[in-house]
Amino acid sequence: MAEAKKLFIKTYGCQMNVYDSERMVEAMGAEGYVTTDSVEEADMVLLNTCHIREKASEKLYSDLGRLRPFKEAKPDLKIGVAGCVAQAEGDEIMRRMPLVDLVVGPQSYHRLPEMNRKMQAGGKVVDTEFPPEDKFAHLPERKALRGPVAFLTVQEGCDKFCAFCVVPYTRGAEVSRAAARLLAEARGLVEKGVREITLLGQNVNAYHGTGEDGDWGLARLVRELARIDGLERIRYTTSHPNDMEDDLIAAHGDEGKLMPYLHLPVQSGSDRILRAMNRKHGRDQYFRLVERIRAARPDILLSSDFIVGFPGETDADFADTLDLIRAVGFGQSYSFKYSARPGTPAAEKPAVAAGIADERLQELQALLLAQQRAAQTAMVGREVGVLYEKAGRMAGQMVGKSDHLHAVHVVDPDARAGDLVRVRITESGPNSLGGVRL
Ligand code: SAH
Ligand code: SF4
Ligand code: F3S
Repeated sequence: MAEAKKLFIKTYGCQMNVYDSERMVEAMGAEGYVTTDSVEEADMVLLNTCHIREKASEKLYSDLGRLRPFKEAKPDLKIGVAGCVAQAEGDEIMRRMPLVDLVVGPQSYHRLPEMNRKMQAGGKVVDTEFPPEDKFAHLPERKALRGPVAFLTVQEGCDKFCAFCVVPYTRGAEVSRAAARLLAEARGLVEKGVREITLLGQNVNAYHGTGEDGDWGLARLVRELARIDGLERIRYTTSHPNDMEDDLIAAHGDEGKLMPYLHLPVQSGSDRILRAMNRKHGRDQYFRLVERIRAARPDILLSSDFIVGFPGETDADFADTLDLIRAVGFGQSYSFKYSARPGTPAAEKPAVAAGIADERLQELQALLLAQQRAAQTAMVGREVGVLYEKAGRMAGQMVGKSDHLHAVHVVDPDARAGDLVRVRITESGPNSLGGVRL
């Protein structure tokens, strides 16, 4: 038998790209490719890219530059660019970087096997279409690539058009997958040992898919998934405040498998900036929403994304953001300096001076970090569920995630990845918790 061909894949950006990369590995697996961690060994390199901020997309070009010597040493090496930069820039990537053999957008990677055959015959391939067929229906069956935890994309695309964001252009309109297919994919994963599934979508709570008795929202999908024996935990991300429907909030109170952690990005605490961002809700609406969610599930941990330095942001606007953060209290957050993206409405507006945006980012991050630490410290003494994902660095140690998504280290020599155990939290470190098994 010929030696298997080797695929090196690098993933940038969000969890949806992580999911897509796994599916690309599976698609190429059907062509006889196995993955490798070494570019030197690889017969094919795939870079699954992100376009969200300038820095993210520029990284592609520096990585491509670094691949040049490998291609010179091994002219048969095929280099492909997938993901959101591929979608946004298309064959421009090949013009700028002639070493690239393949450009494939997020909606057409199920065609990778035939693209590969064209490439192997010496051709170059560009496919950034939004084809009429459902790519998921054309992909091979899932493997459980990350042990007991898995992602499951249920919804793709975005119709929200926030003024700063490229996602509606790179990922297209909101589309939800049929519920029966999702349940089948979830069952298949559980049979392979998966115990926790995170449902993914650019606007996951805008999910409205066809179910056996009509339209299902995300809450119904969660409830049906929760009936699968052996599936112990369900999470979802990323949600938009305007799509938090009543039954989804209710599910946080009464569906025990739905974990008490919710990523609910607000971006800014200033009504003026929220309006300019086209977020279609104000700060009071966000406060009311948080109240309702906490009424359903009092111990839920909330996380958010923030952008500082959006065009027109004044000191007073920024103070409103700090105020919102203090009022809500987040367990975890991601914050970014605004990056003007070509083709988005906000990119036309005059920028906030870089120095000011840097200062604001620092101040914001200090506050968010303090809140993150406080949320971690508050877990000390509590009893939580932990799903072990892998062995820790110390002998006999396991690492897993708590219900609230904190990383937890436990010395538990007889345990295995996939065990879901009760743990008393005894200490809080900089980025993780420590505990003892009960
Ligand atoms: N669909 C999700 C977020 C997708 S992008 C949502 O609506 O919340 C992830 C995060 O990147 C966003 O929440 C935002 O905080 C950040 N982001 C998006 N575009 C950006 C830009 N142009 N500059 C800086 N940050 C940006
Ligand atoms: Fe981007 Fe806004 Fe859509 Fe999120 S909701 S993906 S930030 S346009
Ligand atoms: Fe980036 Fe595309 Fe995700 S732009 S954040 S990889 S949807």
